[in-house]
Amino acid sequence: MKKIVIAIDGYSACGKSSTAKQVASRLGYTFIDSGAMYRAVTLYLLNENVNLENINQVEDHLDQIEITFEDTSILLNGKNVDTEIRTKAVNENVSAVSAISAVRRKMVAQQQTIGKNKGVVMDGRDIGTIVFPNAELKVFMIAEMGIRAKRRRKELLEKGIDEPLESITRNLQERDEVDSTRIDSPLVKAEDAIEIDTTNITLEEQIVQIEELAKEKINEN
Ligand code: CDP
Repeated sequence: MKKIVIAIDGYSACGKSSTAKQVASRLGYTFIDSGAMYRAVTLYLLNENVNLENINQVEDHLDQIEITFEDTSILLNGKNVDTEIRTKAVNENVSAVSAISAVRRKMVAQQQTIGKNKGVVMDGRDIGTIVFPNAELKVFMIAEMGIRAKRRRKELLEKGIDEPLESITRNLQERDEVDSTRIDSPLVKAEDAIEIDTTNITLEEQIVQIEELAKEKINEN
């Protein structure tokens, strides 16, 4: 059967990754959380005490960063960083790091290599616009801020990170703003993306909706 590329973009904490992961598993596709890649780069730079405002210094470190995936886990230079990339320090710096063009070029090249044989579900901010502008299925997820912050708090608690709701809300708002207004690859809905508002639907409903859309696309391709 013909394989397609599924691009899922949208604001922080709308359920993109949880949905993409399950859709990929049900279709037997590869799941890539592109946000985790930007988070891993940020974690590396923070650990190395790189001055994130000094773009030359950031660029000088990029060659030392190797990001790989093992099942759905992310490895930074061979080490599993699934939990470390979700800390407050990473949350507070990831949007600034992601706005740097050299960082984006490196991540996008790797993402395009992973998706070149299709059969991939990738979620992020620029997947349907920049990484895979020809993706057969593009979804753009939105949700109300209150529900996004509550869902994120629950997710973090499950990972052992106890962050107050107000601080989570503030970070989501700040990242939305930086991600949508940056010059390189801002978060925008692709013209041909299907918008899904996840405020009042369950995770299972989100998964089924996208799975159905994917099956339609697979059959018509
Ligand atoms: O999980 P959450 O929705 O909060 O964010 P994420 O998908 O893990 O992405 C973290 C950050 O990485 C975003 O706020 C963006 O700044 C950046 N990002 C990006 O620039 N491009 C992508 N394709 C994915 C994420």
